[in-house]
Amino acid sequence: MKIGCPKEIKPQEFRVGITPNAAHEAVLHGHEVLIETGAGMGSGFADADYVAAGAKIAASAEAVFAAAEMIVKVKEPQPAERARLRQGQVLFTYLHLAPDPAQTADLLKSGATCIAYETVTDRMGGLPLLAPMSEVAGRLAPQVGAWTLQKANGGRGVLLGGVPGVAPAKVVVIGGGVVGTHAARVAAGMGADVTVLDRSLPRLRYLDDVFGRDFKTAYASAGNIADLIVEADMVIGAVLVPGAAAPKLISRAQLKTMKPGSALVDVAIDQGGCFETSHATTHQDPIYEVDGVLHYCVANMPGAVARTSTLALGNATLPFMLALADKGWKQACADDAHLLAGLNAHAGKLTYAAVGEALGLPFITPQAALAM
Ligand SMILES: NC(=O)c1ccc[n+]([C@@H]2O[C@H](COP(=O)([O-])OP(=O)(O)OC[C@H]3O[C@@H](n4cnc5c(N)ncnc54)[C@H](O)[C@@H]3O)[C@@H](O)[C@H]2O)c1
Repeated sequence: MKIGCPKEIKPQEFRVGITPNAAHEAVLHGHEVLIETGAGMGSGFADADYVAAGAKIAASAEAVFAAAEMIVKVKEPQPAERARLRQGQVLFTYLHLAPDPAQTADLLKSGATCIAYETVTDRMGGLPLLAPMSEVAGRLAPQVGAWTLQKANGGRGVLLGGVPGVAPAKVVVIGGGVVGTHAARVAAGMGADVTVLDRSLPRLRYLDDVFGRDFKTAYASAGNIADLIVEADMVIGAVLVPGAAAPKLISRAQLKTMKPGSALVDVAIDQGGCFETSHATTHQDPIYEVDGVLHYCVANMPGAVARTSTLALGNATLPFMLALADKGWKQACADDAHLLAGLNAHAGKLTYAAVGEALGLPFITPQAALAM
């Protein structure tokens, strides 16, 4: 199969859909890989790295879209990219169609077969192509929170780990899923005094079993949250209620109970944020202050560490990309119900119920698309 990877054109996006290692694997499987010149630069991969891996370099995005039977990307296609898609072509990338009627209309119009990273599932009921970005954001959260706490950024001037004779900072993590667990591990590793709250008792049991010596757990009742934030130097918001906006777990009034210069890191900001005073910020201007409490609310945290994020995403997408290329999308999806769950559109038909319901559009089952 001819696999194409254009340079990402969404502002501030430095990741790339195919790493040189992934290109090499595809070439070993007998496929042809076409990379737009400069596509890997933001993640530290030169054209020469791709050539060494056996890929070919294309001079433009047009050339990639024109030649490729399958396009592998990171972000949802932008309008100019959507205009280049065609029936019979496979698009494998993040799509997030439910809140995006314009993109959905364009993808349906194109007739392309669109497989969304974010709806591919796994045997454990997880989302294997979202998890790597949650791992990145979770591990990054204490790092950016520690920086926020520095005096020059308006923070309390507290070192997470303390020093001998000085107590460590207190970190409260609300939500003990993928983001929360990785955040708690890193904060504990930096020497902080960490408590993780969740509303799922099975999750709290798991965390206690596995990490009982590294951090404490608490049930995420409103009362426990209210008590813990009074003492906290940093609060990391990491909750997710699938398919819903994040619940607001700290109100504006509660900020006055917190220490001046303490830091809120709202990782759940991409779902609306879990603190009442959160609004999305950018890497250029990540922090703002409300009632003396600093807020870090960057909606695309993995972008700050594009190279790590590209490598992590590439590891997760590779087996699916190879299956799609080796077997063709139809056979690959027929053989793997988890990959089929990623199918969002095919030949002008919407194939993902939640997107159809969210946008009020007709949809067919992915199984029906396989039979087309
Ligand atoms: N800002 C970014 O760049 C970025 C990057 C990756 C993920 N995220 C976001 O981070 C959030 C967490 O993602 P995840 O992968 O860890 O999800 P996850 O499903 O693995 O974990 C979410 C956890 O929240 C818990 N929870 C739900 N409601 C709760 C409540 N009221 N109180 C306490 N806990 C509650 C759940 O029990 C679960 O354990 C999501 O909103 C995700 O979109 C943001």
